[in-house]
Amino acid sequence: MTDQTKNRVLIFDTTLRDGEQSPGATMTHDEKLEIAGLLDEMGVDIIEAGFPIASEGDFHAVSDIAKQTRTAVICGLARASFKDIDRCWEAVKHAKRPRIHTFIGTSPQHRAIPNLDKEQMAERIHETVSHARNLCDNVQWSPMDATRTEWDYLARVVEIAIKAGATTINIPDTVGYTAPVESAELIRRLIETVPGADDVIFATHCHNDLGLATANALAAVAGGARQIECTINGLGERAGNTALEEVVMALKVRGDIMPYTTGIDTTRIMNISRRVAAVSGFAVQFNKAIVGKNAFAHESGIHQDGMLKNAATFEIMRPEDVGLTETNIVMGKHSGRAALRAKLRDLGYEMADNQLNDVFVRFKELADRKKEVYDDDLVALVRSGTDTDQNRLKIKHLRVICGTEGPQQAALTMEIDGREVSTEATGDGPVDATFNAIKALFPHDARLQLYQVHAVTEGTDAQATVSVRMEEAGRIVMGQSADTDTVVASAKAYVHALNRLLMRREKTRGTAREINYKDVS
Ligand code: KIV
Ligand code: ZN
Repeated sequence: MTDQTKNRVLIFDTTLRDGEQSPGATMTHDEKLEIAGLLDEMGVDIIEAGFPIASEGDFHAVSDIAKQTRTAVICGLARASFKDIDRCWEAVKHAKRPRIHTFIGTSPQHRAIPNLDKEQMAERIHETVSHARNLCDNVQWSPMDATRTEWDYLARVVEIAIKAGATTINIPDTVGYTAPVESAELIRRLIETVPGADDVIFATHCHNDLGLATANALAAVAGGARQIECTINGLGERAGNTALEEVVMALKVRGDIMPYTTGIDTTRIMNISRRVAAVSGFAVQFNKAIVGKNAFAHESGIHQDGMLKNAATFEIMRPEDVGLTETNIVMGKHSGRAALRAKLRDLGYEMADNQLNDVFVRFKELADRKKEVYDDDLVALVRSGTDTDQNRLKIKHLRVICGTEGPQQAALTMEIDGREVSTEATGDGPVDATFNAIKALFPHDARLQLYQVHAVTEGTDAQATVSVRMEEAGRIVMGQSADTDTVVASAKAYVHALNRLLMRREKTRGTAREINYKDVS
């Protein structure tokens, strides 16, 4: 009996590879290691840690994750070239359980890019999968854009990959084009018709362009797939990938009609969701299934009344099943360090002493300005404090004059590489004036692509979380900050993005980051 007939579904997390490919979602080395540790602890079966040939940074992240990981299989991505595969092996070989994942675009649209005809591509698949298998006994192969590949050709290349030694065959819906009935049928047909299909695991890898990624992944499982590829919070290129938390909770809650199990400890979901949101800079939308701020909130009178009488009236899963504890104990200015540590632990943040000290100082400042500090305030506080040690730019003082008569004016002092500098600038509104002042002190060509403000809690003293996205020469970075003063939060978010941009410039200098992901020649 093969794994296809069993009910255990493997969870393959690609937050650190496909997720990190989201424009702006770059994570630092330490952040990647931290996320990999959390994925391993929560029971993810396979962690796709990166694309080793893409840059020195990716290579080192994958090899360090391979060295530190205790349980999960560590996988690296490689295009269909010996050079990519060798580099991938160099990085993953340190793992207790390494895997090489090699891919090539097989649809007519993708075959045109490396300019290979069907025969040449089939030959390339045979050579590269065999090469990978000579290095590693755990090899995954993906025909990229499988769902738009002609059926006959897809079946043929899957057979070639199996014969060449692939142990997992992944069927990607690269552009999020397929629909659930088709997704199930494609896997079922491949398993039924391709010689050798019973000896490998079939995997599903869906993108969310039509909002169908979760449905398609679950349908593929019904069709016989026993590995789901997914990311935390559904992070990923364009509309993202299948969200880990959605497929795992769907299988758990609807075990009656989907009798499959995973090895995931679901009580760790909220914690890792928050960490991924924080380090990637991609905030989770409020109404996102499972991990959104409103996913377990019952606002309307009828719902609240029903919930008080019997939680089952409106709740199909319990908040604690996903690690959301009843923690809305309000903190205030008299709360001490120990209470803060305990509260942060409840929220999923385990802090080293120096980190806790930093958060504690900022918590006290906030508590002086705001009567009640809620869980969401603390999460915003922790998130806005990221990568301070490495920051070259810091906001020191900001005073803004605004009102009905313009122009609005900002007087700003910043610390740049340890030196204090000041200026004044005007603008069309207080935020514009502040950003102009930052540009005057630290001239740059980066373009502001997005500016978003959210109130963290209710009330006029609520903190505002500001997110900005900036672009410079194809590099996209996100910045985030929170403050009870929206203009201060805006200034800090802008400077946070600039600091990340400086890190990115450093990281990509002299590396192969400009590599074309789709080029296999
Ligand atoms: O979406 C996709 O096709 C991919 C492959 C590299 C597996 O991410
Ligand atoms: Zn993908």
